[in-house]
Amino acid sequence: MAVVFSGVQPSGTLTLGNYLGAIKHFVDYQEEEESYFCIVNQHAITVPQDPKQLRDNTRSLAALYLAVGLDPKKTTLFVQSEVAEHAQLAWVMQTISYVGELERMTQFKEKAQNRGESIPAGLLTYPPLMAADMLLYKTTDVPVGDDQKQHIEITRDLAGRFNHRFGELFPLPKMRTPKVGARIMSLQDPTKKMSKSDANQNATIRLLDSEKDILKKLKRAQTDSDNTIRFDKENKPGVSNLLAIHSLCTGKTTEQLEQEYMGKGYGHLKVDTAEAVIEILRPIQARYNELISTSELDLILDEGAAKAREVASRTMKEVEHAMGL
Ligand code: ADP
Ligand code: NA
Repeated sequence: MAVVFSGVQPSGTLTLGNYLGAIKHFVDYQEEEESYFCIVNQHAITVPQDPKQLRDNTRSLAALYLAVGLDPKKTTLFVQSEVAEHAQLAWVMQTISYVGELERMTQFKEKAQNRGESIPAGLLTYPPLMAADMLLYKTTDVPVGDDQKQHIEITRDLAGRFNHRFGELFPLPKMRTPKVGARIMSLQDPTKKMSKSDANQNATIRLLDSEKDILKKLKRAQTDSDNTIRFDKENKPGVSNLLAIHSLCTGKTTEQLEQEYMGKGYGHLKVDTAEAVIEILRPIQARYNELISTSELDLILDEGAAKAREVASRTMKEVEHAMGL
């Protein structure tokens, strides 16, 4: 039986990358027997967050989960910090993690840069917390974008290490990335992934952006100067990123788009891509606006946490029993 888990940090309004690489696919995975979609606020606090902003972002992310089509009758939606077992199992996972392997994580190296003596320890121990998130539910499948590859690998290592020392308890979770869209790039630097914590507002399209902003940002997207519309990630990352976004929003293949835009300028591609993005975001934004002001949202999260807690506490008991705690 498949058990599906994935999480998103409430560290800013979701980007088109989060949507196309991960959240869009959650809706299909909720049809599996058991699935958990989490708002990982404890991951978000590994870098400084404004408390009010964090609370608002958490609620907003919950509304977006529902707006894209997650159904609390089919799946479990919850906030990480409301299920204490996440932090509990994270501690256990830290005790079987090695500092060396944590220091080698690309995300740690990137986020620790230029912080001198003041690198938050939580940045280093982020992967054991992430392993705990998945392992608490004995997760088998993890739908994520491809920036999560190393995190899934270390989770598998930790699960295997635990099983080897204390007896088989955890399945090794498998990463599930989409064929196209697993890495949407920044509009301002197409060699970098689009990230919701990017300070350059023009680099990201956010799921709640106005039509005007979406058009403006896509018009300003960095491309190149050879003026041919061709899908070639290596040599034409900017144009390829636009083609990938266009393709994912319209269902046309990148080959079809190359044909369609033969002899046309980048301006056409940008405007049409903006239209395609606006089209898919319109119904999501409409549902979001209905949901964000209702108290139903809080009720759904309470029920989700209660459901998650049942499974998480059972696993935690097994872990403690196995370890002699
Ligand atoms: P971010 O890096 O934008 O803060 P998270 O770390 O919260 O996002 O990741 C949420 C999900 O979105 C993960 O599954 C991640 O792999 C996916 N994701 C993030 N950025 C992108 C991107 N640019 N393209 C595709 N998927 C992405
Ligand atoms: Na990320």
